[in-house]
Amino acid sequence: MKIITSFFLMLAAFGIQAKGLTPVYLRCEYKENPFTDVTSPRLSWELTTAENNHIQTAYQILVAGSMADLSEEKADLWNSGKINSRATAQIEYAGKPLKSRQVCFWKIRSWDKNGVAGEWSTAAHWEMGFLDKKEWKGDWIGLDLDKLGKGKIYHLPPAPYLRKEINIKPGFVKARLYVTALGLYEFSINGKKIGDAFLTPGWTDYDKRVYYQTYDVTDQIKSGANALASQLSYGWYAGYLGYSLLVGNPVVRAFYGKVPLLKAQLEVEYADGKTETFATNDQWKVSQGALLESDLLNGETYDARLERNDWNKTGFDEKGWKKAEVFPDKPERQIQIYPGPPVKVTQTLDILFAMATPDGKIIFGFNQNFAGIVRLHVKGRAGDTIRLRYGEKLYPDGRLMTENLRMARATDTYILNGAPEGETWEPKFTYHGFQYVEVTGLKEKPDKNTMLGLVIGSDTPKTGSFETDNKMVNQLYSNIDWTQRANYVDIPTDCPQRDERVGWTGDAQVYVKSATFNRDVASFFTKWVVDLNDGQYENGAYPLYAPRPNLRKTDTFSPGWMEAGIICPYQIYRTYGDTRMIKQGWGHMVRFMDFLEKRSKGNNVFKEKSFEDIDPKGGYGDWLSFGKKTPPDLLASFYYTYCANLMVEMAGAIGHDADKKRFTDMAAKVRSSVLAHYTDSNGQFKCDSAAYGDGKGYVDGQLGFTGNTQTVYANAIYMNIVNLADREKAGLHLLDLLNKNGNKLATGFLGAKPLLPALSAAGQSDMAYKLFLSKEFPSWGFEVENGSTTIWERWDSFTKEDGFKYNAAMNSFSHYAFGAVCEWMFGNAAGIQVTKPGFSEFNIRPEIAPDGMGIDGISWLKSSYHSMNGDIVSEWGKSGEKLLMKVGIPVNTVANIYVPGNDAEKILVNGRKLTTDRNLKMKGKEEGYIIIEAGSGRYNFQVEGYKK
Ligand code: BGC
Repeated sequence: MKIITSFFLMLAAFGIQAKGLTPVYLRCEYKENPFTDVTSPRLSWELTTAENNHIQTAYQILVAGSMADLSEEKADLWNSGKINSRATAQIEYAGKPLKSRQVCFWKIRSWDKNGVAGEWSTAAHWEMGFLDKKEWKGDWIGLDLDKLGKGKIYHLPPAPYLRKEINIKPGFVKARLYVTALGLYEFSINGKKIGDAFLTPGWTDYDKRVYYQTYDVTDQIKSGANALASQLSYGWYAGYLGYSLLVGNPVVRAFYGKVPLLKAQLEVEYADGKTETFATNDQWKVSQGALLESDLLNGETYDARLERNDWNKTGFDEKGWKKAEVFPDKPERQIQIYPGPPVKVTQTLDILFAMATPDGKIIFGFNQNFAGIVRLHVKGRAGDTIRLRYGEKLYPDGRLMTENLRMARATDTYILNGAPEGETWEPKFTYHGFQYVEVTGLKEKPDKNTMLGLVIGSDTPKTGSFETDNKMVNQLYSNIDWTQRANYVDIPTDCPQRDERVGWTGDAQVYVKSATFNRDVASFFTKWVVDLNDGQYENGAYPLYAPRPNLRKTDTFSPGWMEAGIICPYQIYRTYGDTRMIKQGWGHMVRFMDFLEKRSKGNNVFKEKSFEDIDPKGGYGDWLSFGKKTPPDLLASFYYTYCANLMVEMAGAIGHDADKKRFTDMAAKVRSSVLAHYTDSNGQFKCDSAAYGDGKGYVDGQLGFTGNTQTVYANAIYMNIVNLADREKAGLHLLDLLNKNGNKLATGFLGAKPLLPALSAAGQSDMAYKLFLSKEFPSWGFEVENGSTTIWERWDSFTKEDGFKYNAAMNSFSHYAFGAVCEWMFGNAAGIQVTKPGFSEFNIRPEIAPDGMGIDGISWLKSSYHSMNGDIVSEWGKSGEKLLMKVGIPVNTVANIYVPGNDAEKILVNGRKLTTDRNLKMKGKEEGYIIIEAGSGRYNFQVEGYKK
């Protein structure tokens, strides 16, 4: 005791306090205080401390069934004891087996590098959902209104309303609502909507699984009579999907079922421990109401004259309401807790203007293209009908451009009930991609309160920031993030406006890494990768889109798309250190690799025409590229090598040694076969273009094929198809191709993503910057110059000069695929590069923009990324012949900071000479950088005599 006291006195004398580490942001399955049905949920936390250079050396977790028991002595579910480890994430609960409904309170403490234990964190909790399908007492109930759909093109029946009055005894202490639907639901208790999620319970392959939500409704119920009520809609289950109508598919709606169904149960617990369950059954009453049409793609029609305000409250006269029909369950269908982030209204937007068109309509404009709905506030007479049409663009004469919606009707109609004080309405079960709303039928002059934009999307926490002194770049970054928000809506869609909005796998795989920088997408992909696995074909190929309704007979799989099943889990592993997704999907992933192996017919390479049996032939290839096409089989072969390599790393991560060996051999064999088949004696890429004949049946096949494209070299470098030793040479060849093309890119979806990273990796950073900062067609800057607020499907979807010069039907103004340049912005321009999965180790290796570009260049850049361990900061700025760099490294991480320069003597850190700093370790030099290893803290570097 004496020794300890004097130790503390000594510390105090030196002004050092052993503060230790403070754990914050406690999460379970990537969420704060969630409901989960994962039987060994994973826990994570972040650490803070006032001192620099800190890591965790050990942790202890306590889990108890009640707050009162959350102490070392009493923790009845789990006391991990002191575990010597640096891990702060992906820690699996390893206590007593958990039961359905169990509430688990938890807290954690960490030991710092000196072995000093910090304070316990504040407590967090999670609660278990149902661990057995048998816990479900609720039936699937609904009302078949299908025959009431009467439109010519669109068969849109009214939405069912369901209700039940129950009696709750006094003395209840807790209430939980478990609810799901085949279709979409909104649930209310005593007239109030439960939760703030939108489009619940989300899209899955409903034949295999459906998700449910759990809500704590203790505060929503009262003793005595309570009204449980729900409105259903057709949604992804029973509504229109994708382009099926456009392409004349025999099925255009009701892909999973015709009648939307509800399944719910309210469980009430009383002080004496007794419980009572109120579940959906044939005693519920069903009817229809004011919501006359309700469809995701096509919009809603609401006749407020039919509205019964009290339909979801107690004491309602149920006269005319029918008994609910009970529908059978599919025994094989799993019912699980929604694992993703809920879709929500994440922001509201005021209107920017309202203007009249010559034909008597009013156009409302926002300053941003987004996905969502509007809240309408109007006054008028009963029966006045207001029609809202949504569009992303206006014609020069002010009319709304709707051609690019194709068969998505995207129209909401509101019929007023004439309330003298005015009426407010917003759709419930649809959303649109738009910046402008065309309104007809308004009887009053609009003002700023007539309409409010409600931005909807999966509620993925913001993690990235990116800002420079270049306005174009800042707008581009804003466009990227907005496009991600508009398309990460339960699944990663391709676009939010037209009759598509499906989870195209090619788009998802090229963009996933970019997505991780902008937003925390861990739980979003936890959900979607299940959809991908559920959509895997018998033969092992991952589908074109997931979930996978049959939108068109010929839709199957395609190289560049089907690899999403490998690439997405890999990226989630790299970013979040998540190995569970790998373990759970391993069987699927191996099956996919088997598929590739089998298809390559013992050649270990896909020779020309290997995919001519699919439609389009060869698949979608480098979709939207310019000039001669990159052979899809060559790309498929690159992806084959790349996937084999990712499998090697993932097999290692989960300790599957035999698989690791198998894929190591496979990767080596495939790589050498690919090089043997697709390169000439000078090591340049080639293909047998004659094999494709006139190219008929291939996407843009009439343009001919060549192995000598930007896309080939960009991918060859990015995917390590060329040796490290040959990388520079490949880079020079890529540079040459760009030069010959007037320094312009010619890449499509599959080439644009690796283009800049490949240039940077091959020592051509200045060229990467040139493309990045260009404002000429085709480029990112060109879109910005032409007024974009989101990323477009085509570089010139709209130009100020020529307007909509392309086929308007294939012109989405919110398509994130080309936004994949974001990966280079964070990974190269800001230089934030993960080196150990989960960002426990990383590089800060910024590439400084070239000098001499004036206002078209970048002279400072500020970027941050909130990793699993906290904020990583990378900023740089040029000031005369000085380069300033600010770096932030979160607690419990180690970074290699690459400071541009050759002479360590000319570098100051936090005002002192780097060479005299004892906390920072110089690790050497590399390609114009001095490499410094640093622990957590904030570092300001100043490089004297810097010139680019
Ligand atoms: C989608 C794409 C998708 C493509 C397949 C399009 O209609 O919008 O983004 O990847 O089809 O080439």
